[in-house]
Amino acid sequence: MIVTQKKILVTGVAGFLGSNLLSKLLNEGHQVVGIDNLSMGSMKNIGDNINHKNFDFVEKDILEESTINELDSDFDVIIHLAAFKIPRYGNAVATLQINSKGSENMLEFARRNKTKFVLASTSDVYGMSPDIPFKEDGNLVLGDSKVPRWAYAVSKLFDEHLALAYMEDYDFPVVMLRFFGSYGPHQHLSWWGGPQSVFIDCILNNTTIPIHGDGQQTRTFTFVQDTVAGIYAAAMKPEANGEIFNIGANEEITILQLAEMLNEIADETDKADIKLIPYDEISTGRKYQDVMRRVPDTSKAERILGVKAKTLMREGLRITYEWQKEVRKAEKAEAL
Ligand SMILES: NC(=O)c1ccc[n+]([C@@H]2O[C@H](COP(=O)([O-])OP(=O)(O)OC[C@H]3O[C@@H](n4cnc5c(N)ncnc54)[C@H](O)[C@@H]3O)[C@@H](O)[C@H]2O)c1
Repeated sequence: MIVTQKKILVTGVAGFLGSNLLSKLLNEGHQVVGIDNLSMGSMKNIGDNINHKNFDFVEKDILEESTINELDSDFDVIIHLAAFKIPRYGNAVATLQINSKGSENMLEFARRNKTKFVLASTSDVYGMSPDIPFKEDGNLVLGDSKVPRWAYAVSKLFDEHLALAYMEDYDFPVVMLRFFGSYGPHQHLSWWGGPQSVFIDCILNNTTIPIHGDGQQTRTFTFVQDTVAGIYAAAMKPEANGEIFNIGANEEITILQLAEMLNEIADETDKADIKLIPYDEISTGRKYQDVMRRVPDTSKAERILGVKAKTLMREGLRITYEWQKEVRKAEKAEAL
């Protein structure tokens, strides 16, 4: 794909996806302004690019209206990644506020100059739909409002509707991307970064890997470079405008198999036992529901965006394990 240089605004640039996307955009010769309030992201993630001539970092909160008032008006694309994720251990108010008011602020900014807007949504909006594989125009089946995880899905669904309503009422293009569990370098090193980062830490520390339920729930985890390829194509291609896309891989794996694969990949000295924790023993004190199967239909992304996840899970996990091992080693050395 040959594209001319674009000026791109990325919110959440210091987070996991944002920082990986930043490298891709700069490598392709684009100019990037990135916003992040560093609540979950870090300067380390963008350290390699912070002095790049085509990158400006703005440490601001997207909840504050002053943030958008101080931005340039000549962006070609806005890629809106800043958000809070599933409020597993509290923070539901922050999730709902950032993912509603924060997104609304960014859409208002897009509206001013009629700038193309790419929204980060999530596979979580499919909830417990039995219609496997999930298609973009399929039904979305969310559970009980007393289960905190659905606050995240609802907030992202609200974002999708808000973006589509802005497109219709104010006549500028939006694209909605439903990401399926991405992992890789720069992933957050806590539960926020997903099971890969938690399991790898257990393996590195020889502590027991906790698996919720019987471990038979499945996912199709996506290596970050493949996720970034989807975001990039959606931002560049006019054919994507007005559409919703699943951005994910097709290799379905149970959570138990994920833990076993990581144990196989790890060095001989790094191995961990696995313990199944029944859902009613998960000690958050809040009602819990899991998604038992999550598989995307990726044919629309292949057809229109021209992207297909290429990285085999074993290979992506090996790269991620090596990266996390080095990060933890460096942290230990720094602490001495
Ligand atoms: N990583 C995945 O597998 C995945 C899956 C589905 C959806 N998503 C969505 O993709 C986007 C990026 O996810 P990620 O994994 O990189 O998450 P992340 O938490 O690593 O990155 C989000 C970034 O947004 C920033 N941020 C949060 N609130 C902000 C605010 N009020 N103002 C400014 N910055 C703020 C955080 O500091 C962080 O750097 C999110 O919208 C997320 O919901 C990610």
